[in-house]
Amino acid sequence: MEKLSGKTALVTGSTDGVGRLVARKLGQAGARVLVHGRDAERGARVVADIEASGGAADFLSALAEVRRLADAAQATVDRLDILINNAGIGTAGPRQTSAEGFELRFAVNYLAGFLLTLLLLPLIKNSAPARIVNVSSAGQQPIDFGDVMLTRGYSGTRAYCQSKLAQIMFTIDLGALLEGTGVTVTCLHPATYMDTSMVRRAGVRPLSTVEVGARAILNLATSPTVEGQTGLYFNGLHEAKAQAQAHDLDARRQLQALSLELTGLSAQGVAALER
Ligand SMILES: NC(=O)c1ccc[n+]([C@@H]2O[C@H](COP(=O)([O-])OP(=O)(O)OC[C@H]3O[C@@H](n4cnc5c(N)ncnc54)[C@H](OP(=O)(O)O)[C@@H]3O)[C@@H](O)[C@H]2O)c1
Repeated sequence: MEKLSGKTALVTGSTDGVGRLVARKLGQAGARVLVHGRDAERGARVVADIEASGGAADFLSALAEVRRLADAAQATVDRLDILINNAGIGTAGPRQTSAEGFELRFAVNYLAGFLLTLLLLPLIKNSAPARIVNVSSAGQQPIDFGDVMLTRGYSGTRAYCQSKLAQIMFTIDLGALLEGTGVTVTCLHPATYMDTSMVRRAGVRPLSTVEVGARAILNLATSPTVEGQTGLYFNGLHEAKAQAQAHDLDARRQLQALSLELTGLSAQGVAALER
């Protein structure tokens, strides 16, 4: 892997699964890593691992509020070269809602990364060349704009798959908006049924390892072979075609407007994009 001395990376959801391995690898390569998760003890262990391999890391707890996470990141580092929006909830379990009343998978898997990215964009742009990687999935389902919060016909799989397509739609839009800034944004399906808590919780037999998924994520986050590539979806190491709604401009516009409204970002978010 590339040497990353002097670089700073934030990996959301890096207390477990593929995010934990990605954080460790970035630390081993010399990056200063902001480890993020809900469990302070496991967070401290990831930080200790990175420090033991000669790297530097800080733990940012998964503050219920994304805005506080963005503030904490900005208070801890003065540059951000790599942002990996990886935290996510799988398909298992009943419909749940966030504190704001949003369907939880939409809120955690997509909306949180949308908001975090826009809040951190000025810092990321100032660190250019910089990269944003959204960890999505091959499991994608069109968004029903008549019932985005899935109050009818709910299933965990449907909720997961629409949140993952939303990440891809955001990636395509943000890639276009960041053209010429030196900041690229890509998204990917890291690997199929990696052996992680999310997959085990769904009762699915793992088919691949976190090593395979981490390699694909790190490829987009650090490899010179994808330098300059932006607004794209990858399956593992290769560019791939996302579900058709991702290429529907009207649907993307609708999602963007809704996301700005739900995050209360309207004016500020658009300004961040235009700056
Ligand atoms: N596993 C696969 O085969 C697969 C396939 C395609 C895509 N993906 C994507 O890869 C990413 C990582 O998945 P994984 O399999 O590594 O899952 P995982 O082992 O369950 O880890 C998920 C991470 O996200 C964090 N997280 C979960 N809910 C959260 C919340 N409400 N707020 C903040 N953080 C939260 C978890 O924190 P805790 O440690 O506190 O639980 C953990 O650090 C996800 O975006 C997933 O959709 C995975």
